[in-house]
Amino acid sequence: MQKKLVVFTGAGISAESGIPTFRDANGMWGKYDAMKLANVEGFEEDPQAVLDFYNARRKNLLEVQPNHAHLVLAELEKQYDVTIVTQNVDNLHERAGSNKVLHLHGELSKVTSSRNRLDSNCIKDYPLDVPIRLGDKAADGSQLRPYIVWFGEYVDNMDEATRFVKQADIFVVIGTSLVVYPAAGLVNYAKREIPKFLIDPNDIKGGLPMGYQHIKATAVEGVDELVKRLDELEK
Ligand code: APR
Repeated sequence: MQKKLVVFTGAGISAESGIPTFRDANGMWGKYDAMKLANVEGFEEDPQAVLDFYNARRKNLLEVQPNHAHLVLAELEKQYDVTIVTQNVDNLHERAGSNKVLHLHGELSKVTSSRNRLDSNCIKDYPLDVPIRLGDKAADGSQLRPYIVWFGEYVDNMDEATRFVKQADIFVVIGTSLVVYPAAGLVNYAKREIPKFLIDPNDIKGGLPMGYQHIKATAVEGVDELVKRLDELEK
């Protein structure tokens, strides 16, 4: 029976693929107004600006590649029962070969209804090179919107994510500032007695969660150190 390795990732794991994070020095929320571009009121007020913002990020996804950190996590599926719980809306974990990826904040590669975001008849894959335009309709006839969880919207798969973390034999956090809830609360559900690691080149503002080993490195360097420590555990 393979050990359950659960990995909780944030924007930091995609930074070395060229996708900017949100709250670092050159982060996205330093350049763009999250309250205008990543919430429902902003979409209602200026849908074109929101569609332009997400269409640019969708298109950019075609120009970036998974990095060594994504690839190592996919490789670990040979030794562990790996589940990735990600806050990221990019598809780099999947493209690296990870087979179990749970997106808490949606996916750039999908669209949905602006009347009922969680209507499964309306959630569809949508080619990244095709812009979502004003006037494009979802299956329910409403304006098509990105399948992204905007600020203030309900994170519908938190129960599933929490279950995965509670069942983990090993828990790893990579590249998240742990400031956005409910996602950030996942760190408290990992069992006290299991090995817990956090990979981040910076200190966590709110302090390292209790019982975590901080691998102070970027994701690309940190995953190699993680593999060393996992091998130690197996001895
Ligand atoms: N490798 C690993 N971690 C990195 C790297 C790197 N190369 N570069 C930066 N980091 C770390 C930063 O130190 C920080 O802790 O990644 C984290 C990025 O934090 P945020 O920019 O806040 O991103 P994230 O935590 O994923 O944001 C959570 O906020 O805007 C919403 O929905 C959005 O999912 C996002 C959520």
